[in-house]
Amino acid sequence: MGVLAVSREGRVLAANPAAARLLGYDNVSFIGEDAARVLRVPRGGGLVPHGGTAAPGGTHEVEAVTKSGDVLPLALRLLPLETLQGDLHGTVAVFHDLREQKSREEQWRRRDRLASLGALSAGVAHEIRNPLAGIGTSAQILRRRLETGDPRGQFVDLILEEAARLDRIVEGLLQFARPDTPQLKRQSVVPSLDKALTLVHELAVRQDVLLHVERAADTPPIFVDHDQLLQVLLNLLMNAIQALAKGGEIRVSVRAARKAVPARSALGRRATDRLERVERAGGAPPIDVVEIRVQDNGPGIPAADQARIFDPFFTTRSQGTGLGLSICQSIIREHGGTITIDSVVGQGTAVIIDLPVEKRHGDRRRDPR
Ligand SMILES: Nc1ncnc2c1ncn2[C@@H]1O[C@H](COP(=O)(O)OP(=O)(O)OP(=O)(O)O)[C@@H](O)[C@H]1O
Ligand SMILES: [Mg+2]
Repeated sequence: MGVLAVSREGRVLAANPAAARLLGYDNVSFIGEDAARVLRVPRGGGLVPHGGTAAPGGTHEVEAVTKSGDVLPLALRLLPLETLQGDLHGTVAVFHDLREQKSREEQWRRRDRLASLGALSAGVAHEIRNPLAGIGTSAQILRRRLETGDPRGQFVDLILEEAARLDRIVEGLLQFARPDTPQLKRQSVVPSLDKALTLVHELAVRQDVLLHVERAADTPPIFVDHDQLLQVLLNLLMNAIQALAKGGEIRVSVRAARKAVPARSALGRRATDRLERVERAGGAPPIDVVEIRVQDNGPGIPAADQARIFDPFFTTRSQGTGLGLSICQSIIREHGGTITIDSVVGQGTAVIIDLPVEKRHGDRRRDPR
């Protein structure tokens, strides 16, 4: 709590060290100064009244400006400062930092938003799927009826192409919102990785991208769904290749590691699973994981974007849907794992997937709890 005593004339009479620290001062060096210059609240308006505060006020949220110009959300309360005889002597301002609370609230809001966005998009995607199939089938019939060389054919082709594109978006949406339950089998992740690499190999060569792979020999088999993991790795490799438009290198590695991955229960995909549990994940004990890393030396992701790349529809590519990483995150969470980004602008991006070795961490759907 910061405490600031202000005279009736609006001068600082006393302050505690917490007040100094919160307002950006090294120590209480501002005694005697104009209180409005120390506790600067531009939008609060007439904050510490001249003539003192007659009766205790309620707690308000304000935005203060610190000495260095940073904006700081504060909970602020004004109380009368009285002499021992009970005469009004000024104001006592009591305040505390709301930054942590604000960022927690923002996280909660974001989770809520994502959960409802997921539900909404699944509903819309579902509704679009049938008419879209109708459009596609009709266009195909039309295509077959046209003679080869008919100039109208190109319009039908356009319909087919765009319908196929819409179909990919719809499928993506459904996968993001309702990923299939993974068919978990104890197996090595290496075949999924090798298959993904084979599939992108030609594209990589064409774009002057070198692929390096390191497979640690002691990587244990884990419970994974081969197809889903393949899909995740393809998404990540495609992102890396797309980021390396001017050529470059992608390093992929698989190894066993021991890490403090948040508890499985904290990783439920639905917002209600997580809301109250994520907070507790902080001191998670380390567990055995298989770490898959996909690293490129591309342009990197600006800090402002890093917070949003897992949001559905966040994309910086004109041809992107922005669903790739959202789907990856859904799938990895269903496996009880985590996916994180480590990116430095100008140096490159690493995506790190940690999948738990032990089954109970990965098989949440069959977990009786
Ligand atoms: N390796 C990377 N390097 C730089 N930026 C990346 C990388 N991977 C992802 N991004 C950024 O994150 C955004 C979101 O990625 P995501 O895979 O979710 O969607 P997308 O690739 O844009 O579209 P889609 O995957 O649906 O085709 C990208 O548009 C890009 O800005
Ligand atoms: Mg992508």
